[in-house]
Amino acid sequence: MIILRNSEELKTWIERHRSSGKTIGFVPTMGALHEGHISLVRQSKLENDVTIVSVFVNPTQFNNPEDLKKYPRTEEADGQLLEQAGVEVVFFPTVETIYPEGQKSTHFNFQGIENQMEGKFRPGHFDGVATVVQKFFEIVQPDRAYFGEKDFQQLRIIQELVKQKRLPLQIVPVAIMRESDGLAMSSRNTRLSQDMRKEAPNIYQILQKAKVFLEDHSVEETKEFVSEAFSKTKLKLEYFEIADESTLESVSTNSDSRKIRGFIAVFADDIRLIDNISLN
Ligand code: PAJ
Repeated sequence: MIILRNSEELKTWIERHRSSGKTIGFVPTMGALHEGHISLVRQSKLENDVTIVSVFVNPTQFNNPEDLKKYPRTEEADGQLLEQAGVEVVFFPTVETIYPEGQKSTHFNFQGIENQMEGKFRPGHFDGVATVVQKFFEIVQPDRAYFGEKDFQQLRIIQELVKQKRLPLQIVPVAIMRESDGLAMSSRNTRLSQDMRKEAPNIYQILQKAKVFLEDHSVEETKEFVSEAFSKTKLKLEYFEIADESTLESVSTNSDSRKIRGFIAVFADDIRLIDNISLN
């Protein structure tokens, strides 16, 4: 495995491999890697000749400066995990490499998808995500790029970006990887106190109960059910929405004609956790 920090070196490496007919799989990450990230790497290795992983804590997607400061950075451990997973290249760029003209994001319009849920509660977040992912796609020009359903709205945003800019690559969604107690794996989990780590599995448990509850209750009643369930935990519910998987608009009735999902954000002390579940 080779580690590159410079985008020109990365482009040269990729050009050499592409011209010998090799397909390129790309997995963008912010590091503090866990099995969830590695599941994306495994999928990429199955479908491509070479796999490139970027590790970059992207400043423009953090709407909260404290969150950016506290975001875990574990470069050495990340390198080891990726080497074990059989990745060919890790790209660890500096902020200056990615943002030579300052830390600014482009404003995107994704037909309203960017304004729902995470977009509402984290203003500017998706502009930052789309900006950095577009930059990475320009550098790497992958055949396929891998995104986790853990960040379902982000996955939809990237699918729209590819469509809008007519980028010649395939976006491959990967299912959510969970701890044995159901907690969705996340780099932020390492920051949970012992107490909150014990509370956090409530998120997926309540999502699963909500799915059953929705079978014979309305959307409104299910939302109330979720809100009440969280009030009995130490977690603070920020939002629970039932939304169309394609537009991410909230639905008010459960119809069979479209795919819907439950989306949730909660605070465990000051740590924000998100999750989602397919509802039909
Ligand atoms: P990060 O949070 O590091 O996640 C990198 C990728 O791993 C994302 O596609 C995310 O959905 C996926 N992922 C994280 N936890 C997962 C889990 N438990 N199961 C499956 N997939 C999981 O998402 C980002 O970084 C950034 O926004 C990025 C796209 C890299 C742009 O900066």
